[in-house]
Amino acid sequence: MLTELEELRTKALAELSRIDNLSELEKWRVRYLGRKGALTSVLRGLGSLPIEDRRSAGATANDIKALLEAELQRKEQGLREKELVAVLEQTRIDVSLPGYPVPLGRLHPTTRTLREICDIFVSMGFQIVEGPEVEWDYYNFEALNIPKDHPARDMWATFWLDTESGDRSRLLRTHTSPMQIRLMETVRPPIRALMPGRVYRYEATDATHESMFYQVEGLAVDQGITMSDLKGTLFEFARRLFGEGRKARFRCDYFPFVEPGVEMAIDCFICQGAGCRLCGNTGWIEILGAGMVHPEVLRRVNYDPDIYTGFAFGMGVERIPMLRYGIDDIRLFYGNDLRFLKQF
Ligand code: PHE
Repeated sequence: MLTELEELRTKALAELSRIDNLSELEKWRVRYLGRKGALTSVLRGLGSLPIEDRRSAGATANDIKALLEAELQRKEQGLREKELVAVLEQTRIDVSLPGYPVPLGRLHPTTRTLREICDIFVSMGFQIVEGPEVEWDYYNFEALNIPKDHPARDMWATFWLDTESGDRSRLLRTHTSPMQIRLMETVRPPIRALMPGRVYRYEATDATHESMFYQVEGLAVDQGITMSDLKGTLFEFARRLFGEGRKARFRCDYFPFVEPGVEMAIDCFICQGAGCRLCGNTGWIEILGAGMVHPEVLRRVNYDPDIYTGFAFGMGVERIPMLRYGIDDIRLFYGNDLRFLKQF
């Protein structure tokens, strides 16, 4: 009996030492320590031994049982640790690896310029107002003192829209000036408003012409507004946008909806007025059209021109970054070439 137990012990321990996974270990446990296992049946057989042998055989068997159980536990713990290490090894994160690049967007140069312009006028008390790009002939021309067949219509090459009656009443606005009328129709003075937006021209595109671009319209109407308010406001704007030292020049210009009408230029910020390529050797750069709101326009919206006066101005937006950064082709703005856009 004792040799049998001795062999069982040796065999069990030898098998145990070769086991390298938990399912094999469980089979081993069933084989030796289970209810029908080898050691259990030996213990059951103790009863048939003569009484004097029973004691020592029983003690030995119990020692082996305790030993095997202890070894089992040790083995199980070892295997579980190995398994954990394997899992950790597989799922490990190398914190020293570089991360995935996050592509960052940026604001379009037009958006940036628009925001800059709006900020300047908002700080002077102007409100931002927006309106439709599909416009009536009435707002784009008629109410702005440009009747049908007036030669001044040639100033704006127009995209006309097809209408049911086939007449020319709907168009893509050629400038933001219709917003002057829309605003004055809905509010009473005092008005200080800035109206940015897209405008459209039916033109062959080239380096200085696009069929779509942005304008910003300005309008101030109140009692007692004079030409010096126009000049002071726009002069301040030019200095904030182009630098403190800028000079401004106002010269007569013609727009049917203002009287008098002017064009404003600043002294060239590249050559400081001496003459260079940017300013076409004139020393001056034209940046906007403006004027005192025509009494005829005020009458249209039921403002009494004997009580109210106002000034208006309009400027192209893309022209400003073109001048500042020396961009020589307006088509770059909406060509969506990232190599261009990423520079801003
Ligand atoms: N709307 C004019 C244009 O597009 C600019 C302008 C606006 C001139 C307001 C005078 C007053 O050319």
